Amino acid sequence: MPTADREHMKQTSIEESEGAVQSNRDQTVDERGGDEGFDLHAGTTQFYEDPHYYDYEFKSRREDVKYYTDRYLEAEGWCVELGVGTGRIAAPAVRAGAKVIGVDLHEGMLRVAEERRQRLAKAKRGSLRLVQGDMRTFELGETFPLISLPFNALQHMYTLEDARACLKTVHEHLQPGGLLVFDVLMPDFEYLNRPAFARFQGVDFKHPTWGATYNYSEQSAYDHLRQLNQVWFYYDRVDPPIGEPSEAPEHHSIQLSHRYYYPQELALLLEVSGFKTLHCSGDFEGGPVVEGNESLVYICEKVN
Ligand SMILES: C[S@@+](CC[C@H](N)C(=O)[O-])C[C@H]1O[C@@H](n2cnc3c(N)ncnc32)[C@H](O)[C@@H]1O
Repeated sequence: MPTADREHMKQTSIEESEGAVQSNRDQTVDERGGDEGFDLHAGTTQFYEDPHYYDYEFKSRREDVKYYTDRYLEAEGWCVELGVGTGRIAAPAVRAGAKVIGVDLHEGMLRVAEERRQRLAKAKRGSLRLVQGDMRTFELGETFPLISLPFNALQHMYTLEDARACLKTVHEHLQPGGLLVFDVLMPDFEYLNRPAFARFQGVDFKHPTWGATYNYSEQSAYDHLRQLNQVWFYYDRVDPPIGEPSEAPEHHSIQLSHRYYYPQELALLLEVSGFKTLHCSGDFEGGPVVEGNESLVYICEKVN
């Protein structure tokens, strides 16, 4: 994914490593087979397997925390956050006075959200509920004034069927006139058209979980037919040097899958799912939608 938010990628832009492999555009990525096939299960779980590292990576991402907190407070009632993760947004929102039910598939992410809940003042703890569930099928048994899908969570819906199932379930859980608020990455062709499977070199950084210094690099591949991007993140230990005894692994890699939703496709998808787009902005400050925006931020109303 675009790396602007990721802590250790900020220090320098990544450079394409030598020996880049050109994408073969005659085949889907899966047809190229072998290690190049997309593992969507790995792409939904591995990025979230170390939730403390996830929080470290995105600790300076603050604009969306304020944005969603403001929306939850305006909603004046219990809100649902789908893909609540570690509670990075939900916990500060509750501290500010919101009431949030956070839903997520990943046990480990929910465990860290629970740690955050425990750190809230006692009187606030009851205003954050955490539920393990799938955004396509969750059942909370009541309706809400607002449901959110922050930080590209919708992009874990890898097919239109998945996206429609999620939007249908959201629709069923919204009160009449209730709001769906979400953000997705704007498709960035410079990024998505990088040579498939070419390794891009990052910087050395101290890993917060393992305490050792790692070199970071990544590769990705975009399947234009399915609009799926798969990213492989690589961590190679620098200090203590490879071969020296340490608890910290010498090499580690994780994957992340995202489906990209194009603005016109989203407009139609929302319409057929019973939503009217009230507002779409190009950032969390309400800026206009222009080419080059990193994110698209939507506020939609349940209409039928
Ligand atoms: C990018 S994280 C966002 C976490 C949090 N909202 C934040 O802004 O930091 C996306 C989250 O969606 C969750 N997720 C992925 N697929 C899901 C699904 N089908 N149902 C529920 N949660 C899902 C992941 O486990 C992950 O915690």
